[in-house]
Amino acid sequence: MDDFDLLQEATQEAEAAEDSRALYEVKMKFLGRTGKVTALLKGMKEIAQESRPAFGKKVNALREALEEKFASLEEKIKQRELEKKLAGENIDVTMPGRHTKQGALHPVTRVKDRLIDLFSGMGFEVFEGPEIESEYYNFTALNTPADHPARDMQDTFYLTEEFLLRTQTSAGQIRVMEQKKPPIKILSPGRVFRSDDDATHSPMFHQMEGLVVDKHITLCDLQGMLDEFAKKMFSETSKTRLRPSYFPFTEPSVEVDVSCAACGGKGCSLCKGTGWIEVLGAGMVNRRVLENCGVDPDEYSGFAFGMGIERIAMLKYGINNIKLLTENDTRFLEQFKD
Ligand code: PHE
Repeated sequence: MDDFDLLQEATQEAEAAEDSRALYEVKMKFLGRTGKVTALLKGMKEIAQESRPAFGKKVNALREALEEKFASLEEKIKQRELEKKLAGENIDVTMPGRHTKQGALHPVTRVKDRLIDLFSGMGFEVFEGPEIESEYYNFTALNTPADHPARDMQDTFYLTEEFLLRTQTSAGQIRVMEQKKPPIKILSPGRVFRSDDDATHSPMFHQMEGLVVDKHITLCDLQGMLDEFAKKMFSETSKTRLRPSYFPFTEPSVEVDVSCAACGGKGCSLCKGTGWIEVLGAGMVNRRVLENCGVDPDEYSGFAFGMGIERIAMLKYGINNIKLLTENDTRFLEQFKD
């Protein structure tokens, strides 16, 4: 076959190739190891000795011409394929973006963090006690011996005769006073457990305990601090009022109401027409409790308070069922984004 025919044949086939894969196949057909041009070179030995140099020159020229041709076609095809790919990847900047779900802090965490922030500003330090407590810390040292009727106020989950799931963060008061000499100013957040279950009570909930022990601490210090807490937590115009109550570990004991933020104290369904909402329990630390911890009650006095974090979250965000706080329904939780 004439090498000129081969050049034409290869050029025609190469130009007809639609993509780089097809072009590669044509290239192999002529220039590959078993290709037609390669076959010409292999057939050299059958040619008369004197004609070989001229023949070799011609075949080499043919090969070079073809290689050049393939290279330029390859370049063109690659360019075309790139343009096609880019056209297919066109970005429509007017399309709405893809929505990624973002997590948010749970309302109980938000209130807990807010409380820590607020009380740290008044000089309180955080102390966390254990969730499994002994009867001694949860009751006895808090002036609530075994036969004390106040033990019935809190239905307790007992683990053994001696150990239980703490029913109140007040247990932490004892641990702190045992470890630290006054002045004491601690805040103790944590989970507590009671066998109690309805729309406003859950067998597990969170409390925030506060304890201040120093010289000359009075009930006025407690109320001043609570006023500040109510204003920062609920509204600038919030007020507090103390009502006499009973806890074995405080004397006197009080129930603390905050003016209803929903109606501004006029009376509404949330505050059941009273204008006030009960928010926490508090009082002056009972002398017996100080004595139990080796603190001299004639030298030192103190106040303590304990609030339910869920209860505050419910009041603050208008949540009417405590179960919403443990169901983890994202439709509910999503509403607490900043
Ligand atoms: N521990 C009490 C309760 O759980 C609350 C409280 C704390 C009362 C500190 C007085 C002082 O109900």
